[in-house]
Amino acid sequence: MRITLGVTGGVAAYKAAELVRLLQQDAFIVQVVMTRGAREFITPLTFAALSGQKVITDLFEKSSSGEANLESAIEHIAVAQRTDLLLVAPATADILAKFARGVADDFLTTLYLATTAPVVVAPAMNVNMWNHAATQENIQVLRARGVKIVNPDEGYLACGMTGAGRLAGQQEIVAAVRETLYAQKDLCGQTVLVTAGPTCEDLDPVRYLTNRSSGKMGYAVAEAAARRGARVFLISGPVSLETPAGVERINIRTAEEMQRAVAQKFPGSSIAIFAAAVADYRPTEMQPEKLKRNKEPLTIRLEPTPDILAEAARTKGDRLIVGFAAETQNVAENARKKLASKNADLLVANDVTAEGAGFDHDTNIVTLFSRDGRDLALPKLSKSEVAQRILDEVVRLRALRNVQHSPV
Ligand code: PMT
Repeated sequence: MRITLGVTGGVAAYKAAELVRLLQQDAFIVQVVMTRGAREFITPLTFAALSGQKVITDLFEKSSSGEANLESAIEHIAVAQRTDLLLVAPATADILAKFARGVADDFLTTLYLATTAPVVVAPAMNVNMWNHAATQENIQVLRARGVKIVNPDEGYLACGMTGAGRLAGQQEIVAAVRETLYAQKDLCGQTVLVTAGPTCEDLDPVRYLTNRSSGKMGYAVAEAAARRGARVFLISGPVSLETPAGVERINIRTAEEMQRAVAQKFPGSSIAIFAAAVADYRPTEMQPEKLKRNKEPLTIRLEPTPDILAEAARTKGDRLIVGFAAETQNVAENARKKLASKNADLLVANDVTAEGAGFDHDTNIVTLFSRDGRDLALPKLSKSEVAQRILDEVVRLRALRNVQHSPV
C-alpha cells in the first residue's frame, strides 16, 4: 500500500525520517511531500535516500530553462489518486488551518483536496499555539470531516516551554495509520469479481470492433473493494490502467474470453460487479487475411455476443450481483428493465451522454436501482467516490438479506 507522508515546517520534521523507516518496515511504499517550511529544517535528500522515491517539493517543478513544468503537476496529481493514505507529520498550526479552510496554495494542500484517501495528521507546535482557540477550532473541523488526529504529547518543547505540543511517538503514529487504513473492512471475507474495460471483437488480423470504455469505473470499484477487505478478481479488457494494490487481474480481449474468465471465477465469488462495456455484437467470422480495400460497399455480418451477466445470474444462488447500464435515453425505465431481465440485485445506471458521466471521464453521474425498490440518484462524483457508494449499497443489501433469512 502507498502512504504519502507530508512533512511540514517544524523542529520535529527530523522525526519524520524515522517514520519513513517504520512505515517501510510495515511494507508501505512511502512518497514524501515537503512544504517550503519543512525544507528549512531538513533536506529532501534525506527523505529521498530513505524512501527510495523522488521527494515532491513543488506543485510546478521548474524545468532546466526555469519554466513551470505542467507535466510534473499532472504526474503529482496522479500520486494523489494512487495514495492509500495521506499522513502529515509533523503538522504545523498553519497546515491545519489551510486543510480546515480548503486553501490549496502548494502541493501538500492541493493533495489534501485532491485525494479521496483517508487522512491522518500528527500535529506538533508550541503549547500556546496548540491550545489557541483557532487551532482547536480547526482540529474540530478536521475531526468532523473524518480526519484522524494523533494528539501531540506533553513534555519539554523546543521553544523552552513545557506542555502539549510534542509530536506523538512514531509507534503511535504508525498505529493510527494502520488503524485508519484497516478501519472500514466491511467486505472482509468476501470475494468480489469485477469486470472492467472494453472488449475487442476481431474483424481481420488488423481491425476490430470496440468501444470507448477506459476501465476507470471498474478499476475504481475493484480498488475500493480491496481497500474494504475483499479478495478481488478483476477481469479486464485492454486498458492502460495500473492494477490497483491487492487486486488479482485477469486480462481478456474478447467477449468470449471474458465469458470464460467469469465462468471460472464466478462460482468462488460472493459478489459480482459487471462494469465492463462488453460488445453486444461481433463479426460472425474473423477474416484470416486483412480485408482488401475496393470500390464496393462492404457489409459485415454481426452476431450477438453471449450476455455474460445474465448467464452468470442464472446460477447466482445467494451471490449478490451488480450490473451497469450505459444509457443514452429513458435511463430510469431502461435501467429498471435491465435490473429485472438480467436478474441483478443492483443496477448502476449512467446516462453516458451527460457532461462528466460515463466513458473515460474521472467522474460519473449514476442512479442506483436496487431490487428492494430503493432508487438512489447520486450527484456528479469522482469514480472512486461512486465506487464507494456502490459498495455501501452492496453492504446494505447483504445486511438486509441476512435479516430476511435469519429465524424470528
Ligand atoms: O470504463 P469507463 O471509461 O470508466 O466507463 C464506464 C462505463 C460507462 C463503461 C460504465 O459506467 C458502464 O456503464 N458500464 C456498462 C457498459 C455496458 O455495456 O452497459 P450495457 O447497458 O450495454 O450492459 C448492461 C450490463 O450487461 C452491464 O453490466 C454489462 O457489463 C453487461 N453485459 C453487456 C453485454 C454483454 N454481452 N454481456 C454483459 O455482461
